[in-house]
Amino acid sequence: MCGIVGYVGARNCADVLVSALSKLEYRGYDSAGIAVFADGEIQIAKSKGRLADLSAKMEKEGKPEGHVGIGHTRWATHGEPTDVNSHPHRGGAYVTLVHNGIIENYKRLKEFLISEGRTFVSDTDTEVVAQLVDYHYHGDPLAAIADTMREVTGSFALGILFADFPNKIFAVRRGSPLIVGKGENESFIASDVPAILKYTKQYYLLEHDEIAVLTDKGTEFYDTRFVPIQKELLTADWDMDAAEKQGYEHFMLKEIHEQPESILRTVTPRIEDGLPSLAECGITPEKIKEFRNIYIVACGTAMHAGMVGKYVIEKLARVPVIVDIASEFRYREPLIGEGDLIIIISQSGETADSLEAMRLAKKLGAKTLAIVNAKGSSIAREADMLIYTHAGPEIAVASTKAYMVQIAVMYLFGFELALAKGKITEEECRRLTALLLETPGYIEKILARKDELHTIAESLVKAESLLYIGRGLDYALSMEGSLKLKEISYIHSEAYAAGELKHGTISLIYDGMPVIAVDTQKALHEKTVSNIKEVKARGAMTILVCGDSYAPEKDIADYCFRLPEIDDLLMPMMGVVPLQLIAYYASVMRGNDVDKPRNLAKSVTVE
Ligand code: AGP
Repeated sequence: MCGIVGYVGARNCADVLVSALSKLEYRGYDSAGIAVFADGEIQIAKSKGRLADLSAKMEKEGKPEGHVGIGHTRWATHGEPTDVNSHPHRGGAYVTLVHNGIIENYKRLKEFLISEGRTFVSDTDTEVVAQLVDYHYHGDPLAAIADTMREVTGSFALGILFADFPNKIFAVRRGSPLIVGKGENESFIASDVPAILKYTKQYYLLEHDEIAVLTDKGTEFYDTRFVPIQKELLTADWDMDAAEKQGYEHFMLKEIHEQPESILRTVTPRIEDGLPSLAECGITPEKIKEFRNIYIVACGTAMHAGMVGKYVIEKLARVPVIVDIASEFRYREPLIGEGDLIIIISQSGETADSLEAMRLAKKLGAKTLAIVNAKGSSIAREADMLIYTHAGPEIAVASTKAYMVQIAVMYLFGFELALAKGKITEEECRRLTALLLETPGYIEKILARKDELHTIAESLVKAESLLYIGRGLDYALSMEGSLKLKEISYIHSEAYAAGELKHGTISLIYDGMPVIAVDTQKALHEKTVSNIKEVKARGAMTILVCGDSYAPEKDIADYCFRLPEIDDLLMPMMGVVPLQLIAYYASVMRGNDVDKPRNLAKSVTVE
């Protein structure tokens, strides 16, 4: 989704803005632009395409030279990705702004502004809000912003320049994230912390309907009635290195390799005396054992982590768990209320569908537990209980290490709940917890066998379509493997419960069609093998991902990747790694932009 940056200080503003925007590229975008106070006016440079296109344009046409400005990467929602629709947008003589999010009532506002004699050059909702701020501006920026905030609806963040205030940046947010960085005689705004890490680690989190006024001396904060606000200065706990590629060809590959470390960072602090302890997250055995039903609500990969959570919780704690896609949950009048627990899983903590689902659950009286990676994000702040995953910054659009730690937390939660409900013994809980701590070592071993997965990826890279099949936890894993492949390789694939194939989908199998069969669950092994035979008999090219004790009959697998065996319940932590790497290599072989796949954004802040 769109990225906002802003800078005021002694450095060359255009350079800082482009560098900061490059750290937000992972969010996904299709045009970029900056606006800088230069030669006594606000000069804009913007271009469709990548930041490199913007830089090339500025090289050719001249770069605005100054010390105060705002920048933006746009992920098109209203209007195509064109130079004209790119941000920043002018709102008239005084206002220039950048915007992240959506102005829901922009049509009505646009009609009003047109009736007031204003004309528009772009198709964007952003230009409408720029014009509205300008319309309300009579010499007082705070008043113009506050008046605008009263009239607009939606979820958004704005970075604003007023022509009369060449030493200041104004910022405001409602819903969409925005941070304010504090450096030595310089200040920043950004949609996310990596944008400013090169310059400072200190930042403020702008809250709902707060206005920030930035100068090189620091930042003042106000509410929309102009009452000054004191804010806590935070320090980012990751550095530039964590947000850089460190020699890996892509962020995705780096992040896949960071999984063992991410598990240890997430799990170790939550273990006391060999047992899971989530007390510091507000979760105690007394509290969790009382919940009637559990809902896990999330999107995409995070939802797939929820599928693993469902199996673990139901199997161990014997509590019914419903997994819901956040965008569906909201609109089907969910049967939830007091006594229910809603677990929201999100890497970014800003996914609009998940955030709104959580708000709805709260309104209906359920308790909310957020499992979130991004510190201080909206979901993290609004949940009743919170477990942070410590994956560190995940930059690649395709989620890998975040998924890994989401399922690690699902295990911890499942173990603790099962023990609290007396469904497993303390001894069993200790055994499972100890095994969870062993997973990083096993994953290292899988990562050392990347070449085998490169060969497997070669075997399917030319396919038009393929299937992932599995049963139980392997089905949950298949869903994640399939999503990973399609989002970065653009090869169509579908995940199917292996036993369900014969009810229709098996008719898709053609000679040579790749089928990835995930078969890590001993109890289901024989059944899964029968399903593999069914597709093999119809000409499929089969790739088997299984435990290392299996000796599959030779003729059922064209390729076989064996995983170190641990308890069946924990096999998803092993099994997802080869699936991630197969998708990664397929994407590289097809020459795709692995970290920034087409049409996708890292943080999906619109519905
Ligand atoms: C995963 O690879 C995706 N790009 C996507 O499905 C993602 O998991 C989903 O958008 C949810 O994001 P969140 O975890 O930040 O809420």
